[in-house]
Amino acid sequence: MAEYKLELRGVCKSFPGVKALDNVQLSLRPGTVHALMGENGAGKSTLMKCLFGIYKMDAGEIILDGEKVEINNPDEAMKKGIAMVHQELQPVPARSVAENMYLGRFPTKCGPLKVIDHKKMYEDTAKWLKEVKMDFDPKAQLGSLSIGQMQSVEIAKAVSQQAKVIIFDEPTSSLSDNEVEALFRIMNDLRDKGVAMVYISHKMDEIKRIADDITVMRDGTYVGTWPAAEMTTDQIITKMVGRELTNVYPPRENKPGDEVVMEVKNLCSIHAKSFQNVSFQLHKGEILGFGGLVGAQRTELMEGIFGIRGIASGEIYMHGKKVKIKHPIDAMNAGIGLITEDRRGNGIFGCLSIKDNVGVSIYNKYLNAGFVLNHKKINEIVTIDTTLSKDAFMQDVFKMAAPKGVKIKILDIPTAVQQQQEGAFDKNRVMVLFKNVQELHAACKP
Ligand SMILES: Nc1ncnc2c1ncn2[C@@H]1O[C@H](COP(=O)(O)OP(=O)(O)OP(=O)(O)O)[C@@H](O)[C@H]1O
Ligand SMILES: [Mg+2]
Repeated sequence: MAEYKLELRGVCKSFPGVKALDNVQLSLRPGTVHALMGENGAGKSTLMKCLFGIYKMDAGEIILDGEKVEINNPDEAMKKGIAMVHQELQPVPARSVAENMYLGRFPTKCGPLKVIDHKKMYEDTAKWLKEVKMDFDPKAQLGSLSIGQMQSVEIAKAVSQQAKVIIFDEPTSSLSDNEVEALFRIMNDLRDKGVAMVYISHKMDEIKRIADDITVMRDGTYVGTWPAAEMTTDQIITKMVGRELTNVYPPRENKPGDEVVMEVKNLCSIHAKSFQNVSFQLHKGEILGFGGLVGAQRTELMEGIFGIRGIASGEIYMHGKKVKIKHPIDAMNAGIGLITEDRRGNGIFGCLSIKDNVGVSIYNKYLNAGFVLNHKKINEIVTIDTTLSKDAFMQDVFKMAAPKGVKIKILDIPTAVQQQQEGAFDKNRVMVLFKNVQELHAACKP
């Protein structure tokens, strides 16, 4: 038997304006969990999508069981025993759990007539859910489940394919602690059965617990592969970032002034366990960082300020004037922009053009006769570089969060690229939520 179940060699992939992968390799041993690590945008998902046949690689090869294979689409990947739990779920909420699990591969009966065999589908679904110890009703509407439970259905689906290679692309981002434990039990079972797994996660404690091997990628290139047991968390981070952490950010040029632009007083969530009694001042030209552990309610606080979450009590002042923010539109009218953490999920409209994405927040101000869009005016204001790919654009979302008139930008966990991009912090008053203390220090120290 070949030493490796699967190998990727010399994989290259470019998108317009971005070289997402440059000569990347990955070797998966059977019966192991291989952590694929790298900063946001390092190319992890792109590499996995090349393997799974979603993207066509520009160069490179896939070796399965010692033999070179071609994978042109996900169907071919699945037929070769490769399954993938995607970073961005694509569920069909209005259909049942079983239909979602068997989407694209419904069991059929009546020979060539290919009538969907619902009975078998529900039975098989129940069997696989039981196998992974999840007790959902196969007939329940998927949309009635939580995001974490939907993610669990995806995991059951991958297991039901009896794949020999399973890719988990950030499966735990929306799972509860119990669900993570359940996933790890499943992964340990699969390991015993000889399945080779790729595990993508930013959570170091998870990597330390579950990974056998670690491959690090940086800016679309391959950095190296090591036994997980031989790497400390600091070593992994250094490989991922590729430079001393203190040099990650360019020198700050902003000069905080005395003028208070925004003041928040005793803000309390309507939920007792969420943020309570939060007060702070944001000065002109200041970068105010918010640190905290996972679950510290930073995102919730910002969403509260932005009118997405309920506020029980407390006040928000802009330039000394009290503002009432009940909905995001109130926040925008007050001059606050929010760049969400889940930019792909709720930061952009993937089906709309870049121009519409940039303009959508101001369209209501540019109407002829009250209801016809004034395209001429909008074209003057919304000027964008149309050569941007949608993803490059996403990285730019914050620049454009509101085309004009934004006084404060809230960036929820900006990527390193965003932090470095000119204009992110420059002169603007921003509040930034950070993942870790080093980042917080580097960006906020005067
Ligand atoms: N469909 C696409 N079109 C254009 N550019 C893309 C596309 N998909 C990815 N990219 C770009 O390729 C690079 C790698 O992105 P990728 O999503 O693979 O990173 P990642 O390592 O999975 O990051 P994350 O940890 O945020 O999931 C990024 O610069 C991204 O902007
Ligand atoms: Mg990814």
